[in-house]
Amino acid sequence: MSSETDPSLGEAVAARIERRWATLSIVIVGVLVGMATFIGIHQATMPQGRVETADPRTLHLSGEFIESNLGTAVEADGSVTVRAVGQQYSFTPQCIVVPAETPITLRTTSADVVHGLIIEGTNINAMLVPGYISELPVRFRKPGEHVMPCQEFCGIGHQGMWGKVKVVDKAAFAGMTASRRRLTCVD
Ligand code: CUA
Repeated sequence: MSSETDPSLGEAVAARIERRWATLSIVIVGVLVGMATFIGIHQATMPQGRVETADPRTLHLSGEFIESNLGTAVEADGSVTVRAVGQQYSFTPQCIVVPAETPITLRTTSADVVHGLIIEGTNINAMLVPGYISELPVRFRKPGEHVMPCQEFCGIGHQGMWGKVKVVDKAAFAGMTASRRRLTCVD
């Protein structure tokens, strides 16, 4: 009898292949569980690289995010920092003005619930989490206007939570900062 026609041999081959697949599946599951365990333990035991906190209850009273400190500022070293706060259902300031072709640091937080911020036409996307400061390096290539909607459902008025970013050229921006310490384009 040739091997092809022996039914018991066919069964043995099938059983061997099935055992192999079963072993492979168990190995894959084992690797995934191992990875999840390692990442979980790693995150729980290693301190985060850099976490900055801000008490949402006192944002308006003291510290970096008091209203007079919001908007765009030129720092002592010449760098540009934008500070903004999200709250149900607006951004403060509602209109942010920044120079083009300049490295900018965007620092934001929330005064109440989790909000998000995306700047249309760019890859800028930040989460505004109460208690924490989100910092993002941003840079705009050319002057223009961008809408800035909230991208995280934050309650009944979420749909209406929009801001605006106005990018002006460097020279115009320098002219604007000559006379004022904090800039916004809120009318
Ligand atoms: Cu704020 Cu959605």
